[in-house]
Amino acid sequence: MKKLILLTLSLLSITTASHAQGLKDIVGRHCLVGAALNQWQSAGKMAIVDTIVNRHFNSAVAENCMKSEQLQPAEGVFDFRQADLFVDYCEQHHLTPIGHCLVWHSQAPAWLFAGQPSREQLIRRIENHIRTVVGRYRGRIHGWDVVNEAIEDDGSMRRSPLYDIIGEDFIEIAFRAAHEADPDAELYYNDYSMAIPAKREAVCRLIRNLKSKGIRIDGVGMQSHVGLDSPDLVEYERSIDSFAAENVKVMITELDMNVLPNPWQFGGAAVEQNFEYQQKLNPYTEQLPAAKAREAEKRYMDFFQLFYKHRQQISRITFWGISDADSWLNNWPINGRTNYPLPFDRQYNEKPLVKKIIDLYNH
Ligand code: G3I
Repeated sequence: MKKLILLTLSLLSITTASHAQGLKDIVGRHCLVGAALNQWQSAGKMAIVDTIVNRHFNSAVAENCMKSEQLQPAEGVFDFRQADLFVDYCEQHHLTPIGHCLVWHSQAPAWLFAGQPSREQLIRRIENHIRTVVGRYRGRIHGWDVVNEAIEDDGSMRRSPLYDIIGEDFIEIAFRAAHEADPDAELYYNDYSMAIPAKREAVCRLIRNLKSKGIRIDGVGMQSHVGLDSPDLVEYERSIDSFAAENVKVMITELDMNVLPNPWQFGGAAVEQNFEYQQKLNPYTEQLPAAKAREAEKRYMDFFQLFYKHRQQISRITFWGISDADSWLNNWPINGRTNYPLPFDRQYNEKPLVKKIIDLYNH
């Protein structure tokens, strides 16, 4: 009897201890774990977020305030106020800061592609942006999403102004400039829908091409904006293995889960697409039904089983936001919906998912 009591108490203490510990204590044994912060959160204006960050995260990324439209709204005019607050916040809260993102066709300031720039002019604009931004945070930013979303789902190069004006080598030009500006920073390529075989192969070719030219690339970001039915887990795992086989770190960089009906089976995260709002596509305005919440939690754990299995290859897991209330998925691909994509609810309460992840990693 005495042994049974002692065993029960010890099990209780382990369970309590493991939940008293946060994601950063348990998952953090294997990788960086964090979230994207919006500018109010990284300005320290949300005490509830500070509490969550201090308990669960050892890393953070700026959701928007380090994108080129925010940092250089006019040519040669830089606005670092929000980005400085983000980096300061990370240092105050012992978060490894990740820079997102240096070169992206979206959320770029209008002037960047204006005036029909020549190849040389656009290269100079890109290089000046990268050198100024990366140079400012030299030694403070752990790693940069150097290029974001340059490849289409079919594996072809996205026909953005970057590609059309400079050519495919805009990617290596960006990586070289970032490395020159901060030789110690890690450098990443980041994209969505990375479980698609054609895209996976194109990204592997990109990695090999950069490496063949002696250009530093440390990791690949699988954004992982997932749904209840996509991507296929077998293909997703093949991508983890394929990127790891290229001797780069694999990162889960923008993890969230759309639990709402997907209009016409639209996938990916190409923000330029939007659909007219329809009631049938916004069914859970009051709360998520228990059965759907269980389905979403099970689906999340399917991914975390993979992340745990590949914990030697995965160097970072970042949720794309903290609370359901903050998620871009409330407004994409349809504005004004009520989605439930993240590990904390609209009142910033921890969902049961968080403890399940901790228990999984607390083997
Ligand atoms: O800052 C303006 C504000 O002044 C204005 O009043 C308001 C209303 O229009 O818009 C605000 O800008 C919004 C910005 O987020 C900051 O909140 C933009 O409209 C809105 O389009 C923008 O959305 C962001 C989106 O990227 C833009 O592409 C999302 O918050 C952000 O989560 C999302 O993140 C991207 C990653 O960077 C790359 N991977 C895909 C991911 C999802 O699209």
